[in-house]
Amino acid sequence: MLFDNDHDDDEDATFVIQRSTVSNAFLKHVPTGRAAQASLLVVMTTFTYAESDEDYKGLRYQSGFGNHFSSEALPGSLPVGQNNPLVCPYGLYAEQISGSAFTAPRDNNFRSWLYRIKPSVTHEPFTPRFPKHEFLVNDFTASEKVDTTPTQLRWKPMKIPESPTDFLEGLFTICGAGSPFLRHGYAIHLYAANKSMENYAFANADGDFLIVPQEGRLLVKTEFGKLLASPGEIIVLQQGFRFSVCLPDGPSRGYVAEVYDGHFRLPELGPIGANGLAAPRDFMVPTAWFDNTQYSEFKVVQKFGGELFEARQTFSPFNVVAWDGNYAPYKYDMKKFCPFNTVLFDHADPSINTVLTLPSERPGVAVLDLVVFPPRWLTAEHTFRPPYFHRNCMSEFMGLIYGSYEGKAEGFLPGGSSLHNCMTPHGVDTITYENTIARGCETPTKISEETLAFMFESSLIPKVTKWALASPHLDKDYYKGWVGLQSHFAIENANGRT
Ligand SMILES: [Fe+2]
Repeated sequence: MLFDNDHDDDEDATFVIQRSTVSNAFLKHVPTGRAAQASLLVVMTTFTYAESDEDYKGLRYQSGFGNHFSSEALPGSLPVGQNNPLVCPYGLYAEQISGSAFTAPRDNNFRSWLYRIKPSVTHEPFTPRFPKHEFLVNDFTASEKVDTTPTQLRWKPMKIPESPTDFLEGLFTICGAGSPFLRHGYAIHLYAANKSMENYAFANADGDFLIVPQEGRLLVKTEFGKLLASPGEIIVLQQGFRFSVCLPDGPSRGYVAEVYDGHFRLPELGPIGANGLAAPRDFMVPTAWFDNTQYSEFKVVQKFGGELFEARQTFSPFNVVAWDGNYAPYKYDMKKFCPFNTVLFDHADPSINTVLTLPSERPGVAVLDLVVFPPRWLTAEHTFRPPYFHRNCMSEFMGLIYGSYEGKAEGFLPGGSSLHNCMTPHGVDTITYENTIARGCETPTKISEETLAFMFESSLIPKVTKWALASPHLDKDYYKGWVGLQSHFAIENANGRT
């Protein structure tokens, strides 16, 4: 019972940029200079980050996409003029995390330096996590848990579990292609959770996560700081980052794209010019924050080759006092997307709404695109304005965050999903078609501010998990939305439908 037909209206999607989580009162008493740093060490050992409901209300972000960022939670904690000094400020350890090969070209070279209280290597050996997670797939080339079908698929919204379930426990795979062992492909997961991850962090060695919360905010603690995301925003957590997902609003659900090839980038703008679509300024990167608490046990759970392993340690992995680099998590508010479209006739391809893309080695062909369908004006004259009927060599997975998608009058609910696989025909349903023709389109209309849909589009053909195909919430009547389309063909009517 992974899906549910019930759905409450989406939660408050207020965007938050706030002050540092590091206590200002603490910082006011921080001395400066080398001599003072010894006394700070004493202060730090007694500094305990206080978790509370207010904890996420003081977040501050850095702005930009792909920038080289710097952030320090204590003044002077970043080394000056070098990455790896013999002795770091405050006695911190220097540790690099690389998100690309050392020798990757500059525009595709990602790494950050983390200055932390203890290095990541300080843990007991990894062992397989028990009980095993039965609903994750990552190697779609060999898994027996997946199947293929060319038919149109749609699922009703997933159900929030009744038993205690955190983000990782509530994560399950819907479809995907390729394998992280080959560094090529992707997986699409859903999650439904009702409790925060406690005293453990998750890291994904297989690829990057792009998380799309649909209901309930996510507060994600990372080694780089904290990110708070409401429905309508996305969070990207790249390969290797350790993070814990907390649920400040309680139950939460959403979508996750995992990519194995590399990292998302902004699409080229071509003739659009220098401005438009997702603006680099609107990507938010966390500021440094650290937890120096001693734990009797803190676990790091790592997904490696699709399997979960865990290692014990006595400190939080969120012990990074300062960091510097261009390999960092970020969030983006899709409501800030600046859409472009036709202003006279016909319908642009949905690629005009690309937020982020992960290019393949073939020019113009994506491993995975994130495409958004935001509120916007429809102005085309003598044009069928909703999405056109089509078949596509790319495969399209769609989700609805809130509202009502323009191409589906019925059945596609917030929290629901659809998959139109390679060359599977699709388009608007019968009701939408008939209403559009009856209404005409000479008057500009605006898609509601209360609607936000998105698509993961891939050149790789996804296989679908057997549990997703067997789910009682798979909409077996999906095809009926189209079989009612009537023939309006009339050989005597050469000028179109009357
Ligand atoms: Fe499509």
